[in-house]
Amino acid sequence: MSESERAASRTAVLVCQGRAAADGRFATDRFGDPVAVRLLRAEEREAVDEVRAGTPPEGWRARMAYESVRACAEVVVPRTVAIDDAVRARVTGQLVILGAGLDTRAWRLTELAETDVWEVDHPASQRDKRARLAEAAPEVTARSVRFTPVDFATDDLGAALDAAGHDPARPTVWLWEGVVPYLTRDQVRATLSALAARTAPGSTLVLNYQAPSVKAAAGRLLTRLLGSAVTAGEPWRSLWRPRRMASLLAEYGFHVASDDSLFTLAVSLYSPAGGHTSLRSGRVAVAESG
Ligand SMILES: C[S@@+](CC[C@H](N)C(=O)[O-])C[C@H]1O[C@@H](n2cnc3c(N)ncnc32)[C@H](O)[C@@H]1O
Repeated sequence: MSESERAASRTAVLVCQGRAAADGRFATDRFGDPVAVRLLRAEEREAVDEVRAGTPPEGWRARMAYESVRACAEVVVPRTVAIDDAVRARVTGQLVILGAGLDTRAWRLTELAETDVWEVDHPASQRDKRARLAEAAPEVTARSVRFTPVDFATDDLGAALDAAGHDPARPTVWLWEGVVPYLTRDQVRATLSALAARTAPGSTLVLNYQAPSVKAAAGRLLTRLLGSAVTAGEPWRSLWRPRRMASLLAEYGFHVASDDSLFTLAVSLYSPAGGHTSLRSGRVAVAESG
């Protein structure tokens, strides 16, 4: 199957399941995503309900789904809180979400009432999201949501944003969450180059990426060997050390204001349990233009 013919992202569903499982359970004063569960199909809610109840199912396949959602719930809490805080603090009239998946911010953050949101995603993932939204019909809290289908591997991001009405002369908050690992280094550079060309002074890039970690790589390999359909179709293609990421961003006119591991963020919010590998290798950076 070619890149453009591929199916909707399974990892986008997993992250949404993680947010649904964490809603009302972790860091309840800082984290909440009541919209996430509404975007899930009945069979996708099963593992979420089991995680929320703390009742692991029988059978290894169901148990793997349960463990993936349980682990994901811990990772998405600090990631969501850090990103929500950064977006709220820097809100401008334009927010572009790259690789939006089942992101709920345009239906959740009331601070976006004066902001137009562009949801950029692979066409297959975006079709799937729009079908889910049509069923769930959550209320939009942003000023507008503009769906912009783009395959970062083949399409011209700038042309797509132009066609969708994004204004490169006005400041933009760019959000790139949970996508960089799935892109090659060249695709990361090409995307940065396209967004830098549309970045007015006063813009911000909020970036979640993955640093190299032997333990995280081994864990992912193990879940692939055990036959996880979620990670099998969406391999990691690029991992970045923070210093390398900072110099890459500098090449495109962004200086890093903060760059924290999810573990550091998590301990400020709740007491993370169990293995901390994904928390330690995941990072959220906030970079300013100019
Ligand atoms: C793990 S999901 C993250 C979704 C969302 N940002 C979140 O954190 O909930 C990865 C997203 O990256 C998108 N993606 C991966 N490769 C892509 C590509 N080549 N072009 C466009 N989108 C891509 C997928 O469609 C999916 O929505």
